[in-house]
Amino acid sequence: MANIGIVIPAAGQGKRMRAGCNKQFLVLMGQPILAHTIRVFEESNFVSEIVIVGAEGDISVIKELVYHQGFQKVAAVCKGGVLRQDSVRAGVRALSPAIQRIVVHDGARPLLTLQAFNQFLEETQEYPAAIMGVSIKDTVKRVNLAGNVLETLPREDLRSVQTPQVFDRGILEVAHYQAVSAGYYGTDDASLLEWMGYPVQMVEGMQENIKVTTPEDLWLAERILAMRES
Ligand code: C5P
Repeated sequence: MANIGIVIPAAGQGKRMRAGCNKQFLVLMGQPILAHTIRVFEESNFVSEIVIVGAEGDISVIKELVYHQGFQKVAAVCKGGVLRQDSVRAGVRALSPAIQRIVVHDGARPLLTLQAFNQFLEETQEYPAAIMGVSIKDTVKRVNLAGNVLETLPREDLRSVQTPQVFDRGILEVAHYQAVSAGYYGTDDASLLEWMGYPVQMVEGMQENIKVTTPEDLWLAERILAMRES
């Protein structure tokens, strides 16, 4: 299971955070969010290489962060694209050919623990494509643009999907290639495989593994980390 390559897309604009900068540089317990995110992979014995994908204007800041934190496994910091999918594609291209198993993890998810990550790798090693998801706590309804409720979805069939997502390199590359050629866009990588009709395995995620998207998420992330440290 060793020799896993990590792609961290961190090139989003973070508009929903209203911070005026890339949210991945906001500070959480004294460290940038992105540093927390990278550390788990730096510390996992299964990981041999990490590629970080940043917005063009952030590349030098990310390189500096990597240097100051002393991360040894970061092989490249490359330029992202307009869509998350473009950024992941760029990251996959930057991994060395020796890497045949790839994990994609959002830069904005700093709360994944080393234990949860290693367990995810163990549980998913038999599957060419597998993802983490958690059950939905609220009732979920589909609505139209006018806000009219169309239907209530069966909650027990639904999962809120997170990263990490793990893939055999070949199938991930084919999915990205086919999707970009057809103009198909998905908000995660697994959706590209689903679109091709390729099976994806879901395993239980962790509720704490939130994506820091809005100011409330930052507040919550601080408290979760503070609780872990106490
Ligand atoms: O936009 P969303 O919240 O789904 O972004 C998830 C992750 O993908 C974030 O870490 C964000 O920085 C990254 N992203 C990216 N390139 C984009 C858009 C998002 O790397 N063009």
